[in-house]
Amino acid sequence: MTPLQLDVFTLTPHAFSSLTEQRPVASVLGTSLDLRLFSYRDTTPLRAGQVDDEPYGGGAGMILRVDVVSAALEGAYGGPPSHRVVALTPQGRQLTQELVEELAQESHLTLLSARFEGFDERVVEHLANDSISIGPYVLSNGDLPAMVLVDAIARRLPGALAEGSGELESFSAELQGRLEYPHYTRPADFRGWRVPDVLLSGDHALVDRWRKEHVR
Ligand SMILES: C[S@@+](CC[C@H](N)C(=O)[O-])C[C@H]1O[C@@H](n2cnc3c(N)ncnc32)[C@H](O)[C@@H]1O
Repeated sequence: MTPLQLDVFTLTPHAFSSLTEQRPVASVLGTSLDLRLFSYRDTTPLRAGQVDDEPYGGGAGMILRVDVVSAALEGAYGGPPSHRVVALTPQGRQLTQELVEELAQESHLTLLSARFEGFDERVVEHLANDSISIGPYVLSNGDLPAMVLVDAIARRLPGALAEGSGELESFSAELQGRLEYPHYTRPADFRGWRVPDVLLSGDHALVDRWRKEHVR
């Protein structure tokens, strides 16, 4: 099996350690996923590890420089990458499960994370060839969005989940993009809140029907 080569460019590679220590990412590392973390500071052409600058036109905040991102990509790939390079930005197209499935089919994928006021727009226009937002809200940096993507993609890779558990999920094609049915476990009665009788019946056909009826 050729692993998905997933490269994340960030200012804080260490922020990803908890992600790589846990399932599903830990389960697929080295088999169906090869995850590399690059720091913009390691390749910046500027002095003293500088990566950002003030916005032309004035205003608050600092902007991640285009020459810094370019040098990072050059350092990793030796030239313009031919695979999908995603800028994580609130202005990107919104992440959906359908898009996650699409990304999980890639053989090589790069995620660019920014912080402060974000990227110099030329990064999005010329260095990236896709841009994704994880939702209509603003986070402090692109590391959480990158981790959301890595996690969502990793669980779609072979070996990430117990067999069958990733198929009938919320938003999946199998459920026509709808939400999964409710789950229950022991105790069957807690404070009078009873588990539906059909789930205790042992009748698999009835259980299947009940679950189909309760897809939301
Ligand atoms: C503080 S945000 C910049 C917000 C930007 N000034 C704006 O108003 O749209 C810094 C960085 O965090 C990341 N980020 C924040 N929210 C995000 C979201 N919803 N989806 C993807 N990336 C996000 C992006 O990399 C962004 O450039």
